[in-house]
Amino acid sequence: MRTIYLNAGTMVHFAHSASNDEEPVFAEGMAIIVEGNSIKNIQNSLTLADEYSIPSDVSHFQHEDVHVHDLQGQAIVPGLIDGHTHLLWAGDRSKEVAWRQEGKTYAEISSMGGGIGHTVSQTRAASSDKLLELGYLRLRDALRTGTTHLEAKTGYGLTTESELRLLDIANQLNRIEHTPTIESTWMGAHDVPKDVTREAYIESLHSEQLPAVLAQGIARSVDVFCEPGWFSTSESEDILRAGKQGGLAMRMHIDEFADGGGGDLAAELGVETADHAYHTPLKSRIKMKGAGVNTGFLPGTPYAMGDAWPELTPMHEHDIPFTLASDFNPNCYTLSLPFMCSLMVQRCGLHPLSALAAVTVNAAQVTQHPSGMVQGQLVEGAVANFNIVDGPNWESMMLRPSSTPFSGTVLNGHYISQ
Ligand code: NIG
Ligand code: FE
Repeated sequence: MRTIYLNAGTMVHFAHSASNDEEPVFAEGMAIIVEGNSIKNIQNSLTLADEYSIPSDVSHFQHEDVHVHDLQGQAIVPGLIDGHTHLLWAGDRSKEVAWRQEGKTYAEISSMGGGIGHTVSQTRAASSDKLLELGYLRLRDALRTGTTHLEAKTGYGLTTESELRLLDIANQLNRIEHTPTIESTWMGAHDVPKDVTREAYIESLHSEQLPAVLAQGIARSVDVFCEPGWFSTSESEDILRAGKQGGLAMRMHIDEFADGGGGDLAAELGVETADHAYHTPLKSRIKMKGAGVNTGFLPGTPYAMGDAWPELTPMHEHDIPFTLASDFNPNCYTLSLPFMCSLMVQRCGLHPLSALAAVTVNAAQVTQHPSGMVQGQLVEGAVANFNIVDGPNWESMMLRPSSTPFSGTVLNGHYISQ
C-alpha cells in the first residue's frame, strides 16, 4: 500500500544535512510517496498526479493499492526528535516552585528533601503498571506536538532492581504502536540515593548496576550528572569509561549550574552529546567541537527554573553544532519541542531553520531510530516520520507554543490526525 501526500506547502527536507549550504527547503507543490514505514520518493505533485492519473478533485481517485491524501498546501517538516528526556518517574514536585521563589537553590532544595531524591522515593513506590500508564500518556503528549522519536533516561530508581525496571518499562513502551519510538539511556549516576553512602553507591554502579544493565541489553547509552555537588569529573570519567567498555555510547549532563570542567571531560572522552552546558567556557566549547561532541541545549530548564538562557553568540561565531531537547523531568514538565523552538526563536534570537535543524537532522546525529533507518530528514529510504503544519509556511510551527502547530503527523508510515 502506498500513500501519496500531494500538494504540499513549503517542505523542509534537510536532504543535505543542516550544515551544508545547499537549499534545505522545497518550494510549495511537492509530494511525498510513503510505502510501508518508509519514504519511497519525493516528487513534484503535478508530475505525480499525471503519472497516477489523479484528478484535481482527489476524492474521485480510486485505486486498490494507492491512497491519496491532499495536503491542500500545508507545509511539511520532518518528525521531531527529542534527544534528552527523563521520561519515567512518578509523583509531584510543585512545592519546589515556592522554595525557588524564596531563593533556595537546586542544591538546597535537594538537601531539604526535594529534588531528584524526592522523585526517586515516589518512583520506587509506584507500581510498574502506573509507570507504564504515565509513560504511555507522556508519549501521546509528545506525539501531539510532533515528536516521532525520543531518548529516555533512567535515573529515578537508583538501585539495580529499580533501574532495570525503568529500562524494562521503556522497552515495553517502545513496542506499543502509534506512539513515538524510544531509545533508552541508563543514568544510574543521576544522584546518590539517600539510603547509602556515596562510596558504596559509586562502587555498586560499577560492580552491580552497570553489569546488570549490560546483561539486560536495553540501554544504548550511559549518562552521568557531572556537576559540582553531584558527580565529579573523575567519578564521571570512571563511570563513562566503564559504560563505553561495555559497549554503551556516552552522554553527559554538564555545567548546568556552574562550570565544573565537564566540557573538557566531554571532549577528552569524545562523548556523543554533552547537555545543559550553560556555564561551559568558550575554550571547552571549542575543544568539544574539535572532538565531535554535540552540545544539547535544553531551554525548558532555564524557562522553568529561572536560570540563564543558552548563549548563542559563541555558538554562531565558532560554528559549534548544537541540538535542542525538552529535558522533560518533574521540574520541566513539557515534552513540546515546538515550545523549545519558540523559546529559542522568540526569546533568544535563533533562526527558525537552525531551531528546526536542532530538533531534526542534528538531533538524529545523537539518537538512533530502532529500525536503523535515517530519521530527521525527508529523503528516499528514510523512515516515514513527518509533520503536516497547520498552515502553508513551515516557520509557523515556531510561533504556536501553547497548542500543537500540526494538523497531522505521519509516524512510521501511519497518518495520525492532530
Ligand atoms: O537534566 N540535572 C539533572 N537532571 C535533570 C533534573 C532532574 C530533577 O530535578 O529531577 C535535568 O535537568
Ligand atoms: Fe536532564
